[in-house]
Amino acid sequence: MIRIPRPSRRLGPLLDAFRARVGRDPDGAWFAPGRVNLIGEHTDYSGGFVLPLAIEYGVLAAVARRDDGRLRCWSLQEPEPADLRLDELGPGKVQGWAAYPAGVAWALAQADGGAELGGMDLVVDGEVPAGAGLSSSAALECATALALAELSGLQRAGALDRLGPVELAAAAHRAEVEAVGMPCGVMDQMISMLGQPGHALFLDTRTLEAEQLPLPLDEAGLRLLVIDTRAPHRLVEGAYGERRAAIEAAARVLGVAELRDATPAMVEDAADALGDPGLRRARHVVRENARVLEAAALLREAAPDRLGPLLAASHVSLRDDLEVSCPELDTAVAAATDSGALGARMTGAGFGGSALALVPAELEERVGAAVLAAFEAAGFRPPEVIGVRPAGGARRVA
Ligand code: GLA
Repeated sequence: MIRIPRPSRRLGPLLDAFRARVGRDPDGAWFAPGRVNLIGEHTDYSGGFVLPLAIEYGVLAAVARRDDGRLRCWSLQEPEPADLRLDELGPGKVQGWAAYPAGVAWALAQADGGAELGGMDLVVDGEVPAGAGLSSSAALECATALALAELSGLQRAGALDRLGPVELAAAAHRAEVEAVGMPCGVMDQMISMLGQPGHALFLDTRTLEAEQLPLPLDEAGLRLLVIDTRAPHRLVEGAYGERRAAIEAAARVLGVAELRDATPAMVEDAADALGDPGLRRARHVVRENARVLEAAALLREAAPDRLGPLLAASHVSLRDDLEVSCPELDTAVAAATDSGALGARMTGAGFGGSALALVPAELEERVGAAVLAAFEAAGFRPPEVIGVRPAGGARRVA
């Protein structure tokens, strides 16, 4: 019932697919992971704190250099390939899935001291279900970014020294915001580049200061279950931008640069000026930032078993104050909690996608079964329950 990913098994078929499409061997293959955010939701576009972990689900990319200025892209999940000219890339220029790799090629070319790309053939295989809220797009961007940077590094010695993982995450983020047009924060690209096995990443999204915090689930007798509700992402882009606008407006009312600079007391004192829903939107962000700091402190104390109440409070806040949950996510969280999870919450942007549940190892099957039963009783599509462990970030695999 609970699925465990094995990305290494997919490498052989990807290399075969590359040879079949391109007619030669790739120069290499790269993997970048999706992510689950433990806590710190909708805080990364107002300079706040997040605590995500990389998972073993991700995107594999087989890539070979070209020298004719063309970028040719295939995906094993998408019917349409793309054949693009590097000098014609830019914001809004490419539609569909290839906007992500094309956006990365454009952003890297823009980056200071960035890559000189001669052209690329790229074949990708994504195991993160699109729409599951597990950052399939950041995985695609980061696998492409690392591949392009390493291959252009071969062309020009020293390029890699200037384009480390944080710069590559920034280029991938720029691709998503400017080239694709999704006004997201930087969390997903940072964790996809910087993830470490056995660790969650405590990230200050203003300074990009990052701290690897041990999350020894097995040693603590815990499991982290991801429940992909398979509910269609409803209105996600418009509603995401609307929440972002409301949070930026609240910062202006409070007279701070970003909500990162506001305290819960400042928000409550400005209740009248913020109005409704402004007050609730701002309340979510400042309280969520405080919860991330508490969660990070618990991980530093090696007490992941005490995270439950923070996860529960985060979900209530996302449901009632930010209003980004949905019936399927609420059902998953309630069923997991009622059947023994220490805590559960929606993860990612919301409006569908996935929930996570922190579960004592011995209750894993019971919680999984309870979630499936609750979905059936509610008449929802069966969800997918996935066991995850904190995994490594983007890397070369062949
Ligand atoms: C999406 C965005 C992230 C972040 C989350 C919500 O995953 O890509 O930047 O804002 O939603 O926390």
